[in-house]
Amino acid sequence: MRGFEFKVFDKKVDEIGADIEIVLIVDKNMNHRWVKDKNILKICGFKAKEDEVLFLPEDRVVYSSCASFYPDDVRVAVSNAFKALKKAKIKSVKIGLYTENCPPINARALVEGILLGTYSFDKYKSDKDDFDLEVVNISTEDYNGKIYDKDSTTKAVNEAVIIANATNKAKDIVNTPPADMTPEKLANYAEDLAKELDGVECFVGDEKFLEKEKMGAFLAVAKASVNKPRLIHLTYKPKNSTKRFVFVGKGLTYDSGGLSLKPSEHMVTMKADKSGAAAAINIIRAASELKLPYEVHAVIGAAENMIGGNAYKPDDVLVSRSGKTIEVRNTDAEGRLVLCDCLDYAQDLEPDYMFDLATLTGACVVALGEYTIGVMGHNTKLKRLISKVSKKSGELAASLPFNKYLKKLLKSDIADISNISSSRYGGAITAGLFLDNFIRDEYKDKWLHLDIAGPAYIEKSWGYNQPGASGAGVRLCVYWLKELVYLENSVHKEVK
Ligand code: BES
Ligand code: ZN
Ligand code: ZN
Repeated sequence: MRGFEFKVFDKKVDEIGADIEIVLIVDKNMNHRWVKDKNILKICGFKAKEDEVLFLPEDRVVYSSCASFYPDDVRVAVSNAFKALKKAKIKSVKIGLYTENCPPINARALVEGILLGTYSFDKYKSDKDDFDLEVVNISTEDYNGKIYDKDSTTKAVNEAVIIANATNKAKDIVNTPPADMTPEKLANYAEDLAKELDGVECFVGDEKFLEKEKMGAFLAVAKASVNKPRLIHLTYKPKNSTKRFVFVGKGLTYDSGGLSLKPSEHMVTMKADKSGAAAAINIIRAASELKLPYEVHAVIGAAENMIGGNAYKPDDVLVSRSGKTIEVRNTDAEGRLVLCDCLDYAQDLEPDYMFDLATLTGACVVALGEYTIGVMGHNTKLKRLISKVSKKSGELAASLPFNKYLKKLLKSDIADISNISSSRYGGAITAGLFLDNFIRDEYKDKWLHLDIAGPAYIEKSWGYNQPGASGAGVRLCVYWLKELVYLENSVHKEVK
């Protein structure tokens, strides 16, 4: 990742030095003290329309249109400004806080917009992307001219660097081609990461372990691949932790569809079927670097869904870890098979909350569009909190409701449950309901299923996301964990 140095100054923007000033234009009439070239902007035909950017090198300024002070608008605007500077031979920029009341939130948004927006994956390119920019000077002067304290802004900046970095690392995993990120290599990655991070340990279970655990559904999916499956279990355990969370990630390092083979145009991009795993691993990274006061686990089912003489087949009946039997009617509905065994394992850890993250269904993309995470589960309050956090984190999320009629569509004549619905409609929800069958009663209200099939992989750039992986799920979950810390502390204060 690009390593910018962020420096915070409790001085006015005009009093800080830098090669270039970045000015976000929030007021469409361009009446603001930071807009010093109103006439030039007019001559250039700049109207502050959505995504409009103007770089005036002689005036040493970049103007970027910003729809509002809403954090995600700030992320997009600053990311657009940086795109305009990509080829410029400059070393430093400066910028103020684009907020009228809550400075740390938009200090975070600035840093995240910069780091997420300038991400590029050039490992496999001979011509590397070069960016001369090194230093970003952030003034704590807000839109109204008030100067805020340096400490809270610095803290926000440091946290945002951690969260954006974790998101970009998740992108790296997902963007890595399947031959270079097999289940074994993903497990090695997790083991190396655990050595790097404070308070993190990694357990890796191979095929023998999966057999011992009776993970018959997970094993069946992995059977036909020469790249053997792994269960990866990362644990971040701080001293005196007050709660335990488990994030279960779908880690299909490749999904060919198996014998229910995908058509070739749908197979490309299926290296991204490990996005849930990449997110879970990097939630652990962020939790450790942020020193969160909670025990956080990542449980990852890493496998390749391939074809071969020993492949699992439509018509097979599998015995899952829970003991429930599953009729296979489509080998391309493999994610739920890996996840049902991992979720069963995860419940043995007795979590306070358990989320699974998975590129589970094309149907979720049809239902919500490619920008939005599908949220499913029984706990309405929890879903409401996720929706609130979604707005802060900049990741779009929407709830898809379960119902008893959809649930019936998973009935099987030969086994306890079928791995696909008997109807072509409501596929995202029936996949969620399949998983629900493996959630024990005492965990029903502690579980959420996040279908990230839409936003995990970007075909055409949007916002501050470039084509390729987006690191979907990392920010939503980390912001949620941080929100819980905040809520716990505020409750505490009230009691006092
Ligand atoms: N990995 C896919 C889901 C997917 C589709 C992710 C598009 C990202 C983009 C999953 O394993 C799958 O193939 N699901 C099937 C389920 C069907 C057979 C019931 C699907 O969505 O078509
Ligand atoms: Zn599939
Ligand atoms: Zn899949």
